[in-house]
Amino acid sequence: MAELISSRAWLRADLESDVSWQLEWTPSLLDALKTWATADMVAAVQNEPTSLNYFVGSAPEKLIEFAQEIRTNLIDGAGLCLVKGYSLLTSVNFAQAAVGFVAFGALVGMPRRQNAAGHLLGHVVDVGLRADDPTVRIYQTNQRQSFHTDSTDAVALLCVRPAPRGGLSLVANAEAAYRLMVQRDPALAKRMFDPVATDRRGEHAPDQNPWFEIPVLTWSGDRLTCIYQRQYIESAARFDDAPRLDPEHRSALDLFDEILNDPLVHAPMQFESGDMQFVHNHSLLHDRTAFEDHADPGLRRHLLRLWLSLPGDRELAPSFAQRYGSVTVGDRGGISVGDDLATISLVP
Ligand SMILES: [Fe+2]
Repeated sequence: MAELISSRAWLRADLESDVSWQLEWTPSLLDALKTWATADMVAAVQNEPTSLNYFVGSAPEKLIEFAQEIRTNLIDGAGLCLVKGYSLLTSVNFAQAAVGFVAFGALVGMPRRQNAAGHLLGHVVDVGLRADDPTVRIYQTNQRQSFHTDSTDAVALLCVRPAPRGGLSLVANAEAAYRLMVQRDPALAKRMFDPVATDRRGEHAPDQNPWFEIPVLTWSGDRLTCIYQRQYIESAARFDDAPRLDPEHRSALDLFDEILNDPLVHAPMQFESGDMQFVHNHSLLHDRTAFEDHADPGLRRHLLRLWLSLPGDRELAPSFAQRYGSVTVGDRGGISVGDDLATISLVP
């Protein structure tokens, strides 16, 4: 199977044999972050998120270089970084550890708003909502997601606490899945480049359609770009004016999902506390398995999340502006509802 895949596309075995995407927080990097993310920074960014720009201007060189290494992996490498050992979660107070994550993330890319409330720092927790409610985003539940992309160049997660059972992170390479699809059924693979309607799940500006229409796959030069969330494509049917999936589109998406779900295609990882994961949304899809949570609310699975716009990332087709607000490299992506509200809250 491996010979079918181009150099940028990987299957699980490729990812597991070349582990250059696995990095570590060294004591010297952690010291630099601790010294930079002072109590002043913690107070300022909670009060006024745009003050992050000011602090980024005084970032230690070694953190800038580490962030650049991660960004290069995202844009030109495996599209993925797992950075282990963020021990600030246990060595300093939670506010400093969380703001340290935000500030370091801002060196990798520009933080973007993740929901209609303007949250720049997301809290991925099960708040007891159901994914079949069309106004709910699936990260707010404990249910199995499905392979999807987030609406931003890259997503970063910091695991504060894993679930006692389940909650594995799965990642898959879009180009690898596409190339396998071409081998299986070239006619269906072509359908992946047709626009399909996707539900905005209620998070949009008053003058925007509640759904947008975009192909799941587009070529950006010689790079394949994927934007995909199957549940939101299905729930777009709740709008009378949204174009319907025809049977061939549905078969194409079914085959794409089947390939992504092949254990030879995707790579699983179980987060430990202090793991940071960075995923490039244009080249990879991600998923999370269902989990059973702790009975004590204070011990529940908790991930912090950033959505980042990456300087130096690929050009995107103009159609991405429907979802990304703009296609300007380094200043695009996230959820906009027509205001410029941005907040950083340290509690879910
Ligand atoms: Fe996601």
